[in-house]
Amino acid sequence: MLQNIDKILEEARQFKAETKEEIEQFRIFYLGKKGALSELFKNFKDVPADQKKEVGQKINQLKQFVSEKIEALLAGISEEASTDDTRDLTLPGPPVQAGARHPISIVRNEIISIFGRLGYTISEGPEIEDDWHVFSSLNFPPEHPARDMQDTFFIEKDPDILLRTHTSSVQVRVMEKESLPIRTISPGRVFRNEAISARAHCIFHQVEGLYIDENVSFADLKQTLLYFAREMFGKHVEIRLRPSYFPFTEPSAEMDISCQICSGKGCNVCKYTGWLEILGCGMVDPNVLEFNKIDSKKYTGFAFGMGVERVAMLKYQVKDLRLYFENDLRFLEQFKAAY
Ligand code: PHE
Repeated sequence: MLQNIDKILEEARQFKAETKEEIEQFRIFYLGKKGALSELFKNFKDVPADQKKEVGQKINQLKQFVSEKIEALLAGISEEASTDDTRDLTLPGPPVQAGARHPISIVRNEIISIFGRLGYTISEGPEIEDDWHVFSSLNFPPEHPARDMQDTFFIEKDPDILLRTHTSSVQVRVMEKESLPIRTISPGRVFRNEAISARAHCIFHQVEGLYIDENVSFADLKQTLLYFAREMFGKHVEIRLRPSYFPFTEPSAEMDISCQICSGKGCNVCKYTGWLEILGCGMVDPNVLEFNKIDSKKYTGFAFGMGVERVAMLKYQVKDLRLYFENDLRFLEQFKAAY
């Protein structure tokens, strides 16, 4: 019997399988109900008592060997199955949706970068302001229409607390706390009580600029704005300054840039004028300097303020302002940022 077991063991050792079916056959042959092992166990009762121990051990060894071999064979087959895989590992992965910066952020960052190259610092101030910083210290007369509820969002009355209507309030805060000379820009959100349409919104963004030093002249303002316009819109851009009025600047002007779409010939974007309005500016009114304890005999300065949405509209030819606030991904995804 011992020899018989050795023979079976040797056969089992030799066995090789390529398919699951072959392994199953092997299992049935050895471990099945009528298999070799159950045959051996059946005959075990006839083994003489003095050999029972040895034979019993051999049968158990055989059983263990066969079980382990079946497991090993099955593992080998499933490994092979996975290397047999036809997936192409050199294919690119599934696309990842990359985010894009908001066009307003792109334009704001570009404005900041242009003035940064001219040595301007960046300053910020609160969106909820008092009357002094938004109106009074900027030389707004008491009866100015901007102080009307219809133009400004008031939060409290007497004393007035309101949402700033322009970032000029930040120039006041800078004049209060910083020493001269001052050369800063203030980007930020502003609020006006306007009905929302393609051309107007109750929230928008401005960048204010302020430069105060000895001997700052209107020529410096003009050259600074020309540099800005050419960096922003292209080196062939022309600018023109038209007389205007702001309570806090004297003289005041509005700046137009030559229309880049028709090169000044006239089209429906520039309403056949060849020019597009882009910002307000002027020499800081001496009253404003004095309100902020700056000697207006010694120092002069200029200020300018522009709407970021307006610059973006001109740069990207987007005619409806509301698109900038609706956060429609189909719109936003079209802007890839260099800034
Ligand atoms: N604050 C002005 C506005 O909101 C713009 C401006 C800023 C004009 C600075 C002149 C100087 O329209």
